[in-house]
Amino acid sequence: MVCGSRVAVIGAGSVGATISYALLIQKISSEIILVDIVDEIVKGQVLDLSDANFISSTQVRNGTYQEAGQCDIIIITAGAKQKPSETRVELIERNYKILDNVIKSMQPIKPSAILLLVANPVDILTYIAQKLSGLPKHQVIGSGTFLDSARLRLRIASELGVAENAVHAYVLGEHGDSQIIAWSSAHVGGKKLLDFPELRNVDKDKVAKEISGKAYEIIKLKGATYFGIAGCVSSLVQCIILNQKHVRPLSTFIEEYGCVLSMPVVLGSNGIEKIIEIHLDSDEKAKLKQSAISLKEVCDKYVK
Ligand code: 2OP
Repeated sequence: MVCGSRVAVIGAGSVGATISYALLIQKISSEIILVDIVDEIVKGQVLDLSDANFISSTQVRNGTYQEAGQCDIIIITAGAKQKPSETRVELIERNYKILDNVIKSMQPIKPSAILLLVANPVDILTYIAQKLSGLPKHQVIGSGTFLDSARLRLRIASELGVAENAVHAYVLGEHGDSQIIAWSSAHVGGKKLLDFPELRNVDKDKVAKEISGKAYEIIKLKGATYFGIAGCVSSLVQCIILNQKHVRPLSTFIEEYGCVLSMPVVLGSNGIEKIIEIHLDSDEKAKLKQSAISLKEVCDKYVK
């Protein structure tokens, strides 16, 4: 994949529009095709985004599902969003039907396309998309716990007074309530995070609740989250187009658990190139297994 790649964004709500705006500012793709079943919304978003075109070399236009299916990267944001205090998993009934229609309407999908799931529950929808799209599993990826990990790194960075990118720490498992923090492998400058005196008195369970509850807090205050996920998705698009091979925690199929959840992966222009086997202590392993079991139960209801 080279600069000049075409990116489709399915769903022109606040998440789809903000991702489009972030991609526009990034100037890496040649074209963004925005698609939605509601004509007025997609036309309105394209008109609004086109007013920002002068700061970018990327063109934005509305398009059809068929055109989206022929893009290099297809980002799926279409779906109902969480209401205050609703869990992500509770969206599955509505968002399964939407995803099924979107994938059917895009067929035949370009064989080399990367399908990037963003709508929630992202792990379960990624699993379903892997089954329905006909694409190889490594090309069907979910944004997963990349956003949760960014939230965690921000929290730790402010505690230690270091830059966020100096913090190597992952949130893994479900992008949702059963997620886990891999404290035992987290480090800054090669020093174990748990050995930093600044963190000795920090309540780890409280931090975990703060991270998994951050979306609920934002939704309660302003109705939706979109800037954080747009930052994450535009950086994933850059990583794919420029074949940067960054290690990111993303939703991917894990053989051991028979379902999709977030683990650190190497991301390049062909999608997921490798899953990194991260060290977890026995408590983290048990929690991750529990996260996988709860996700698999829901997946099995939808895909036989
Ligand atoms: C988020 O974590 C709601 O999944 C979305 O911001």
